Amino acid sequence: MIRPVEAVFFDLYGTLVDLAGLEAACEAAAPGRGAELAVRWRARQLEATWLRTCMGRWADFEQVTAEALDVTAEELALDADGLTARLAGAWHRLQPRAGVPVLLERLAAARLPTGVLSNGSSAMLRATLDGAALTDPFAHLLSADAARAFKPARAVYRLAADATDLPPGRIGFVTANGWDAAGAAAFGFLVAWLQQPGGSLPAVGHVDRRPTGVTVEEVASLFGA
Ligand code: LAC
Repeated sequence: MIRPVEAVFFDLYGTLVDLAGLEAACEAAAPGRGAELAVRWRARQLEATWLRTCMGRWADFEQVTAEALDVTAEELALDADGLTARLAGAWHRLQPRAGVPVLLERLAAARLPTGVLSNGSSAMLRATLDGAALTDPFAHLLSADAARAFKPARAVYRLAADATDLPPGRIGFVTANGWDAAGAAAFGFLVAWLQQPGGSLPAVGHVDRRPTGVTVEEVASLFGA
């Protein structure tokens, strides 16, 4: 049987690990404000990755995440130093998204090599995977650090093609982030997009293979496992 892909890479935050844990940590740190703090922190974090990449001002994801918390605290009139202390390590304590361990077992049983391709710094990536007990299954742990740019820059997706020596069209990619799904599809990956109810892809022009909106349970069969 010819498989649709020969390796499968995963986004980390929100995809392999569930960002619900971030909201819980934020709620504990700022009672009554957890949901808005978590959502704005994530939005400011992503915004900074895109801006820094466009501006050619690299800093790793750990720094970007810390700075995003400062900006968010200011925006919400919360105590930045207190939040920094209370939320230290919050990104390292996120738990696997439901269905992910079973999916990884299924891909392993089908002998499809897997990897992580994340904006997370190398240290952050490892700490998060260790915290979620997800380090073992992956043949490749690829951090945007190596490209000194953040997704959706092509240089970051290229890390997976280089690590596997596969053309982009033979690589599967799983992400819950619509902007990441668009970027990965534009690079040429076959994309399984874990679509949130009501979620839509950003309009960024034609791609040969539009990301397929799937549930975690449907990912393995998309990739022939
Ligand atoms: C990542 C973030 C962007 O893991 O979700 O790359």
